[in-house]
Amino acid sequence: MSFFSRAPQSAPPEDFLAPSGVLISLNQMEKSYAHGTSRSWVLRRVTLDIKEGEFVSIMGPSGAGKSTLLHILGMHDSAWTGEYYFGGQPVHRLSPKDRAALHKTYVGFVFQSYHLLDHLTVYENLDVPLSYRDIKKSERDSMVCDILDRFAIVGKKDLYPNQLSGGQQQLVAVARAVIANPKVILADEPTGNLHSSQGRDIMELFRKLNDGGTTIIQVTHSEANAECGSRVIELKDGWVVGAPTPE
Ligand SMILES: Nc1ncnc2c1ncn2[C@@H]1O[C@H](COP(=O)(O)OP(=O)(O)OP(=O)(O)O)[C@@H](O)[C@H]1O
Ligand SMILES: [Mg+2]
Repeated sequence: MSFFSRAPQSAPPEDFLAPSGVLISLNQMEKSYAHGTSRSWVLRRVTLDIKEGEFVSIMGPSGAGKSTLLHILGMHDSAWTGEYYFGGQPVHRLSPKDRAALHKTYVGFVFQSYHLLDHLTVYENLDVPLSYRDIKKSERDSMVCDILDRFAIVGKKDLYPNQLSGGQQQLVAVARAVIANPKVILADEPTGNLHSSQGRDIMELFRKLNDGGTTIIQVTHSEANAECGSRVIELKDGWVVGAPTPE
């Protein structure tokens, strides 16, 4: 099955970027949870740059903070300290509305637990990211049909997420993240529930999108998946250990 053989439909938007080509820049970012009078730290003084066009894998043991970091990069979580610049824009200073707009315009996110919308069918779930963009309904319909076809899930289009297997939900979640051709794809263990050949297809898709200029940041426990990327950021107990700076 090679449902990803075609190139992305259009290049990601190029209308903003820091002059250095850095897409994501974190400076001393920290996240903690308060428990009564004590506090537990989940991310510690995270400082890193990711350039546009990189394909980065975040690795580390369970509980290291990988999903937490990805959610912060995806602008789902605003309860942290430090600085975060996205395309030169100071996320740490943006209003919730502006942050959401940035996320909807530029980010495709694959959640570790899929997070499909239960009350929408597969077809409708795939249309959601397109509805944030200025795309005609007829064109949206054709993009949804195309991705259903490429992911070999046409037969599932009218089902609701709870009528799908875990792996099928994961495929829909990946399809939803890539459908609008976002500038950056953040994917949290995107192949964890898939058959190995489907997992390889997803990695192949990510490689093609990356070749076309899309920045990819994936969380993975798989060495084979990490080899598809160009560098690894390793987390341990919330600390970044071993993250060579981009060339
Ligand atoms: N609401 C919360 N209150 C307190 N601690 C939390 C809360 N949510 C998450 N944590 C802690 O944050 C830490 C990091 O969790 P995270 O989900 O980022 O780990 P992970 O590296 O993605 O692990 P996995 O590989 O198992 O997915 C964990 O120790 C977790 O217990
Ligand atoms: Mg996780």
